[in-house]
Amino acid sequence: MTLTYSAKAVLDRIDLADPQLFAEPGHHRVFRLLRDHAPVHWNPQQSEPGFWSVTRYEDCLAVQKDGATFSSAGTNTLGAQRWTGDEGSGRMLTHTDGPRHTELRQLVNRAFTPRAVARLEPYIRSVIRQSLDEALEQGEVDFVDTVALLPVASIAALLGVPQEDWALLLRLTTAAFGSADQDLRTSPSARASAAMAHAQLLLYCQDLMSQRRVSPREDIVTSLVEAQDKGLLDEEGAMLFFDLLLLGGNETTRHGAVGSLIAFMEHPEQWQRLRADRGLLNTAVGEVLRYVSPSQHVLRRAERDVELHGVRIEAGQDVAIWHFSANRDERVFADADRFDIARTHNPHLALGSGPHYCLGAALATMELRLFLDELCERVGSAVMIEPPVRLASTVISGYKHLRVRLLPA
Ligand code: HEM
Repeated sequence: MTLTYSAKAVLDRIDLADPQLFAEPGHHRVFRLLRDHAPVHWNPQQSEPGFWSVTRYEDCLAVQKDGATFSSAGTNTLGAQRWTGDEGSGRMLTHTDGPRHTELRQLVNRAFTPRAVARLEPYIRSVIRQSLDEALEQGEVDFVDTVALLPVASIAALLGVPQEDWALLLRLTTAAFGSADQDLRTSPSARASAAMAHAQLLLYCQDLMSQRRVSPREDIVTSLVEAQDKGLLDEEGAMLFFDLLLLGGNETTRHGAVGSLIAFMEHPEQWQRLRADRGLLNTAVGEVLRYVSPSQHVLRRAERDVELHGVRIEAGQDVAIWHFSANRDERVFADADRFDIARTHNPHLALGSGPHYCLGAALATMELRLFLDELCERVGSAVMIEPPVRLASTVISGYKHLRVRLLPA
């Protein structure tokens, strides 16, 4: 007996909110089916009202750019707090719209300009060198750990977090972000695990702000204290900001670096090409962001009834924007599944678009450029010891483990 499924029948059986789906590399095929056969797709859910998914480039871009129709104010990812309420709603940068969003962004904007982050370049380069040299010395390593300090050290320097606390913050951000994956939880419940990690991060910020109140410095935590003094933020709002900056900048960049090594191991000719011509570093970073797409989706809520591809989205319904799918859309990217570090037409959406475009874009691209540059300088090749283990997460495209041996250049 043969069993045939139509594309619709296949898609109706898949829950895109299930983190396990993303633990399998095959999820790319599911999203190709969605792009081709159901570009605006309704995903029912048992205990919640369900949500729409947009998977084509043009729709992802349009929804993200139209902040007036598609609001960020409720929550911005699928997950436990979607309907039960998110503490950041209407208060945190990512969870606000319109003038309040602009006001919040202006509080920290100047710390993230290309010129401001360029000042960190020598320091970030030294962190990468040290991590890679240690990994080369150790022989076999879990590369997910090797690159863990790169983003923490970078954002910690901007925030003003002392070096002795980096390891603690790394542990907390991993638990806060990775709680959908049961291996990374600090308690059996995803929600409790994330809540405990966030609570510690908030309290950490509270303590640091008390210190900065007494002795201000040139860092973001001091800017958050000043914003409170000017009545632009309350204390909790400042703590949420700190939590957001740490989380936003951490797992995304870390898994961008991990994903880049996997992409180069799978495409050794691209690795040789980059090593032979570092002039390709900038296009290589763009291609890594497109191909890896560390941020998989963001969520918006429709403010009014609206139509997309003849499908009616009602006011109050949620829409998931799948960046990584947009970045593999054959309608925009030639040979979209090919990893090509010299790709020139690459308007990827890995860092989002519209009013919430990644605040840390200049920092993230600099970190990845320095990472690839130092990798070329120090590492000749990498050998996979075990198949990489993917993270079960709808939010981050990443790995729990990547056991490799690095061989020197
Ligand atoms: C490869 C690394 C990174 C990726 C893939 C990434 C991706 C994204 C994406 C897709 C958004 C849009 C969210 C939305 O539309 O709701 C975003 C926003 C944001 N990112 Fe990044 N990001 C990265 C690195 C960073 C870094 C290093 C920071 C530094 C703190 C950062 C901070 C933020 C913040 C604060 C927002 C919110 C902006 C707003 O709501 O106005 N990100 N990021």
